[in-house]
Amino acid sequence: MEIALDLARKCSGFTFPNPPVGCVIVEYDKIKKDHKIVSYGQTQISGRPHAEFNAIKQTFFKTKKDYICYSSLEPCCHKGRSESCVSQILRTPIKKVVFSVIDPDKRVKGKGKEILKEYGISVSSGLLKKSAIDLYSGYFLNRIFGRPKITLKIASSLDGKIYGNKSKWITNEITRSFVHTLRFENDAILIGGNTAKVDNPRLDCRLKGLEGFSPIKIVISKSFDLSKNLKIFSTKPKVKIIVFTTNLKKKKDFISKKNIEFHILDEKEFNIKNIIKKLTLYGISNVLVEGGAKINSFFLKENLVDDLIITRGNFFLGKDGLDTLVNISKKSNINKNNFILKKVWNFKNDVIEYYNNVKYEKLLKEIYTEF
Ligand SMILES: NC(=O)c1ccc[n+]([C@@H]2O[C@H](COP(=O)([O-])OP(=O)(O)OC[C@H]3O[C@@H](n4cnc5c(N)ncnc54)[C@H](OP(=O)(O)O)[C@@H]3O)[C@@H](O)[C@H]2O)c1
Repeated sequence: MEIALDLARKCSGFTFPNPPVGCVIVEYDKIKKDHKIVSYGQTQISGRPHAEFNAIKQTFFKTKKDYICYSSLEPCCHKGRSESCVSQILRTPIKKVVFSVIDPDKRVKGKGKEILKEYGISVSSGLLKKSAIDLYSGYFLNRIFGRPKITLKIASSLDGKIYGNKSKWITNEITRSFVHTLRFENDAILIGGNTAKVDNPRLDCRLKGLEGFSPIKIVISKSFDLSKNLKIFSTKPKVKIIVFTTNLKKKKDFISKKNIEFHILDEKEFNIKNIIKKLTLYGISNVLVEGGAKINSFFLKENLVDDLIITRGNFFLGKDGLDTLVNISKKSNINKNNFILKKVWNFKNDVIEYYNNVKYEKLLKEIYTEF
């Protein structure tokens, strides 16, 4: 199962909209009482074929041996773009299936396990469940709570300031590569309209070889007074861009941009909680929020940040800098947040702090107990 989970981790970031899964097939010799791994599989790019399909395809099943299938997630039992993993397993001599955690998707959720049992397969689950739930945390939040996992990344100076009204790097090139890894791993990246305007970012993943795996881009702007020539709208390869705005009129200016989808919300609907819920419609399980100050503050005030990453450059901005957050007072919800520092890394002179929200940890614990 360690190997199956490792295989799953290694394809994480490539498999959207499906979760990354690893599968290992073990051959069992009844006489020699000997187990050996004979094949393995991973979820492929864009989610198909599934890991079990790939592992089974590569196995040469011998008549005198028994076979066990180890999977990091419950095998699916619904026919989607191809035959379900359960049906494929049932066509092989596999006698036993061991998976780490139940698939929370309502089309599966224990049904895969039940069908396998009905057909006389011995099934066990729960092996290394905690590691699996950590790996699939965004997927679980999406399927159970109807919202993605939110990682907020703030790049600041030593004194916790950001540059105002100009786009300039605060951190070094190693830290920036780390941020591009986050972009690769997350299904989507989210910014506010002012950041799109002031920084004019591309928001893609520029790690060599991973350029084709950039996240979906999300822009939140009430007025949406943005030019269609901004880099975010014109950078290639074209990825899906989702815009949340209240400005219906502006949509027609972008009519030629087929990769942009507009959500025109009314004033009442225009809030972060509501916007985040809409993202699950796209199958988005993980979102990286890269600000700016107002957007970051909205997320924190609503206590919607699960992971907080602060990347600190090695200099002071003092009065030349802006606050990383706005309108956060003692009364704000943010003060009730309790972020626990989990890790600290140094990339040359930069410091990277990684925090978990206590509320998020509680949610994970609930999931550990329920699944
Ligand atoms: N160091 C970093 O990590 C970092 C990262 C990104 C950006 N930045 C900096 O941050 C600055 C921009 O930040 P900012 O605070 O000015 O703006 P911002 O956070 O980029 O954008 C705020 C957006 O929120 C929208 N909005 C208004 N009311 C809202 C509501 N109730 N719910 C949700 N959204 C709402 C606004 O719409 P309208 O368009 O209608 O106003 C606006 O587009 C720039 O200087 C940039 O360089 C720093």
